[in-house]
Amino acid sequence: MSSGGTKTTLSVIKADIGSIAGHHKAHPDTLLAASRVLAEGKKKGIIVDFYVTAIGDDIQLIMTHFRGINDPQVHELAWDAFKEATSVAKDLGLYAAGQDLLSDTFSGNVRGLGPGVAELEFSERPSEPVAIFMADKTEPSAFNLPLYKIFADPFNTAGLVIDPKMHSGFVFTVLDLYEGKAVDLSTPEELYDLLALIGTTSRYVIKYVHRKDGEPAAVVSSERLNLIAGKYIGKDDPVMIVRLQSGFPALGEALEAFSFPHLVAGWMRGSHFGPLMPVGLKDAKMTRFDGPPRVLGLGFNVKAGRLVGPTDLFDDVAFDEVRRQAAEIADYMRRHGPFMPHRLGPEEMEYTTLPDVLKRLEGMFRPFDLGYKPIVKHEDLLE
Ligand code: F6R
Ligand code: MG
Ligand code: MG
Repeated sequence: MSSGGTKTTLSVIKADIGSIAGHHKAHPDTLLAASRVLAEGKKKGIIVDFYVTAIGDDIQLIMTHFRGINDPQVHELAWDAFKEATSVAKDLGLYAAGQDLLSDTFSGNVRGLGPGVAELEFSERPSEPVAIFMADKTEPSAFNLPLYKIFADPFNTAGLVIDPKMHSGFVFTVLDLYEGKAVDLSTPEELYDLLALIGTTSRYVIKYVHRKDGEPAAVVSSERLNLIAGKYIGKDDPVMIVRLQSGFPALGEALEAFSFPHLVAGWMRGSHFGPLMPVGLKDAKMTRFDGPPRVLGLGFNVKAGRLVGPTDLFDDVAFDEVRRQAAEIADYMRRHGPFMPHRLGPEEMEYTTLPDVLKRLEGMFRPFDLGYKPIVKHEDLLE
């Protein structure tokens, strides 16, 4: 089968529809249920190929097709797959069955209904290598730092210096999750402006990276479940697609960005900073303090819409030391218990269950003369 000049779309749609023994690990039967629905969709010609996988309590549907991004039929297929998986989860009595499906009815697009979406449409090169990164117990901006390293840091990506096709840099599209606005910033020219935004991981998320000739290079799911649902129902664990090689970062340059287990928000109750640990499929489950936050990487080649692979990218001794370091950082952070900076700051805790606890204390406060008049009230700082 040939794409005949039409563009290929790679769609990764994920949701937590319930898991075994807590928010720990998706049940294989739920993956099978989702796979059955996607196999039907493949037979009907809605998608060309698919692969279903999971990290922690999240299931990822990796699909290829020629229908472009935001295609209603592809999104409906994904929705049906999650619905089917949810009904198996309910039968098995899995924990938090149907957690991320915020609506009973599908309305043309899964965005805003709970699932996370990362889609990239491109003209296939003769060989089209891609990496798909999937994380659990964290949020989309967990990929800000690795994306910066992959596409803008010459100490990580040698190709930025050496490869003439990458030398002119990349354009980052950054979302302001609070305002629902986006800004495009070019690197290396606007590198410092980019960092001024994406360092604030609670607000700014890198959504897309493009090459300067317009070729799409990477995309991240950017839904924020807590803002969609208006109350805390879990962190919106992200997925990311990165195109690789010949004019894009090499596979090893993309993986290199995960050799530093940086601190990300999420972990237990979505309320703690912890190190992002790169793991292979066998360790793609959440244990210690519901974590630590982990990232799984699968490599594929896309050929005429067909998915060739996967290869389990972090299942390698070269990442053992990173995992050991992450475990050590996890220890260090855990010793802070309920104190910041292990626990998130007040702005982020607004979206958890903590405000319910604090409400009960409100009436217990009494006037107390501090001997001076406070200039700024704490609530004003939160606005
Ligand atoms: C974090 C997460 C878990 C739960 C925790 C409590 O994203 O999913 O850490 O927050 O296990 O879960 P509940 O409130 O369902 O008992
Ligand atoms: Mg969950
Ligand atoms: Mg999860």
